Amino acid sequence: MPLTATKRLRRLLATLALATGPALANEVADPNVVVDTSALAPLTASTPAGNPYRGQARAIEIGRNAFNQACARCHGVDAVNKGQVGPDLLRMDRACSRIADPSIRELCVLDNDDFFLKSVQDGKIRVGVVHMPAWKEVLSPAAIWTIRSFLESRRP
Ligand code: HEC
Repeated sequence: MPLTATKRLRRLLATLALATGPALANEVADPNVVVDTSALAPLTASTPAGNPYRGQARAIEIGRNAFNQACARCHGVDAVNKGQVGPDLLRMDRACSRIADPSIRELCVLDNDDFFLKSVQDGKIRVGVVHMPAWKEVLSPAAIWTIRSFLESRRP
């Protein structure tokens, strides 16, 4: 007996549901994100380790725009995280801010810089599940540092 149109539609929907699986499994970095960092000092081989744009107003502005294009859908618009799928990124440097010794605090922040850059470039992919897509094909290191500068400017 031929399948009715409704049954065929149901089967198609079931197959699609299987193919797409859990919503996060097929996350990709949005290739349409555009971040122009040409107004900032370019990164060179002699740029010191860590975020070179920390505290710079222009970088913070560029970073806010970049964040809202690329990251907001999982981490919250303007990084205000209210039950989003991704963690609250404004909490990232909390532990560092509690360190009294300025030189140790600086090392802590540098370590977080490195973690931030790598997290964004490589994404968070475990046992084949993409919790967060890798951004290295879409965002330059300079663009990623503007986002970090923006987040740092919003820390409570
Ligand atoms: C598709 C959703 C999604 C998008 C888009 C996304 N993230 Fe994430 N991100 C996550 C999830 C989920 C985690 C937690 C992953 C884990 O560790 O299991 C995460 C973790 C992170 C972490 C590590 C935080 C920590 O404390 O461990 C950083 C940093 C981060 N994201 C930054 C960004 C930035 C910057 C962008 C935009 C360029 C971005 N994310 C875009 C979902 C996303």
